[in-house]
Amino acid sequence: MPGRLAVRDAVATERMDDPHCDPERLARTYARFGLVNAVVASPRATYRRWIAPRLRQGDVRLLDIGTGGADFPRAVCRWARRERGRLDVLAIDPDPRAFAFAARGPRGRGLRVRQMDAAAVIATGERFDVVVSNHVLHHLSDAEVTALLDESAQLLRPGGVAVHRDIERSRGAYLAFWIGTLPFVPFVLRGTFLREDGLTSIRRSRTARELAQLVPTGWRVERGWPARVEAVREA
Ligand SMILES: C[S@@+](CC[C@H](N)C(=O)[O-])C[C@H]1O[C@@H](n2cnc3c(N)ncnc32)[C@H](O)[C@@H]1O
Repeated sequence: MPGRLAVRDAVATERMDDPHCDPERLARTYARFGLVNAVVASPRATYRRWIAPRLRQGDVRLLDIGTGGADFPRAVCRWARRERGRLDVLAIDPDPRAFAFAARGPRGRGLRVRQMDAAAVIATGERFDVVVSNHVLHHLSDAEVTALLDESAQLLRPGGVAVHRDIERSRGAYLAFWIGTLPFVPFVLRGTFLREDGLTSIRRSRTARELAQLVPTGWRVERGWPARVEAVREA
């Protein structure tokens, strides 16, 4: 285990970010994102806090940036069925491999999956009540994080909210992931990049203090459990 988690490892590369990585392992990795997120990323809490209250008032347009396998938008579309307002979701990912995987999944009502980045969405003129991302910020350089947050702010309708959620780097998070995933290596994680990339993700991720130093004016940083950090902007 690296002893230098005090410093962010901006050089380490996740296997999934290698354009030449094994496509079958990558597809199995995308297929497991939903399961891993359910354990570490509390997607339902994100829905309850930021999306459900708006759906009780009326229709909501949601943008999910860096959607990967599009698990979160699909889950949100299911949960939203019982609410008063109608939910429209645009799920985007610039990686053609992620897009191809996500586009093959079930087509929920109100869900569009597109291969594009946030800048391309700005150019379409479409604007949103809620803009989210999960586990995207640690893939980006500091300059790319700042650009993504600026773009998210431009994509908000008046009264909207942008929430970019990620891992918070710490020795505890690294140790918990290292130990917690070990029993699942021969089963659930077999043939995926999840354990290796998960550990790299933690080394690449930022502490709340580091993220707070990056965010533009108008944004705030919140911490959550387990080992979560969020950049939030309410328009
Ligand atoms: C670890 S995956 C997370 C996927 C999904 N959000 C989830 O939580 O399951 C990171 C995703 O971010 C995407 N990504 C990387 N750079 C991006 C960028 N600049 N803008 C948007 N998405 C990006 C990658 O293609 C990848 O699908």
